[in-house]
Amino acid sequence: MPCLVTVGGFFGDEGKGKIVAYLAKKDNPSIAVRGGVGPNAGHTIAFEGKEYKLRMLPSAALNPSTRLLIGAGVLVNLQVLLKEIETFKADDRTYVDAQCGIIEQSHIDRDKSEDHLKGKIGTTGTGTGPANADRALRTLKMARDVPELSLFVEDVSNSVNYALENKETVLVEGTQGTYLSLFHGGYPYVTSKDVTASGICSDIGIGPKRVDDVMVVFKAYVTRVGGGPLDNEISEEEAKRRGWLEFGSVTGRQRRAAPFDFGLAKKSIRLNSATQLAVTKLDIMFPGCAGVRQYEKMPADARKYIEDIEGELGVKVTLIGTGAELDDVVDRR
Ligand code: IMP
Ligand code: MG
Repeated sequence: MPCLVTVGGFFGDEGKGKIVAYLAKKDNPSIAVRGGVGPNAGHTIAFEGKEYKLRMLPSAALNPSTRLLIGAGVLVNLQVLLKEIETFKADDRTYVDAQCGIIEQSHIDRDKSEDHLKGKIGTTGTGTGPANADRALRTLKMARDVPELSLFVEDVSNSVNYALENKETVLVEGTQGTYLSLFHGGYPYVTSKDVTASGICSDIGIGPKRVDDVMVVFKAYVTRVGGGPLDNEISEEEAKRRGWLEFGSVTGRQRRAAPFDFGLAKKSIRLNSATQLAVTKLDIMFPGCAGVRQYEKMPADARKYIEDIEGELGVKVTLIGTGAELDDVVDRR
């Protein structure tokens, strides 16, 4: 599958980072390209006992032979990006579209101080909403105007389309989750852009017919940070008891939790035209499958959980996350 798009199926934090990092290692794409909003996303990857966090670079960064691209629709925080380029020794393989928008301190200040954003919506405070507002007003600074980025700037859509015309493997990485979409999520409790598969493709500049596969990533349960409705939300005590209590990787905020939601999942599959599903953190629900990498070795109740999801949703679960480590995956492709 030359062009695979990965997106989150719920409210973000489904474990896309780990899934993308696994795919980058296994499928060895020549390009990984990130769409989505910007540094409000946090992807965590555990590899050989070490934990890595990414907010700007694609989560494929651990594969040194993959070129790392950031699409024009993505907002860049210069400090965060330069730090990640250094951490991943990626200065000779990072490319930023000339028309990526630049987040400035004033955007962060507004995001953190305006009652509506910080209080009501519960944003990540990373400046993305105010920066996208300025982009709509056409006053936002672009990557091409920033001297520190001059070595990294290029036309990302050109590179991605060229690679696909040459039958190279391209991994397209979405961020956030379907129900944080500005258009399809529960407005106003959403992020500042569309983050469904179509929006992600638009961010990087590929047309809908270029895509071969769309993988929607679900977690085995649902979590949400910030404001907005969450059906069947469980209490903090109950979340703790079930091992579902999580904390945001960008803001450190406690995540709210609820059981897997088939209604949301069904609609998410439509909105993204999913051809495959990934289900992460199954080991949290079924400790017996922790670290298991073969489907037949998973306990019967865990397999039934997966088969119920496939039966109900009508799409195959090709990847199952069974632990934090990058390789803790059951790959049924
Ligand atoms: P903003 O994207 O920072 O403007 O925040 C808007 C809403 O989206 C808030 O509820 C955030 O918690 C949520 N959000 C934004 N990015 C992510 C993410 O990567 N994971 C989870 N929630 C996110
Ligand atoms: Mg996250």
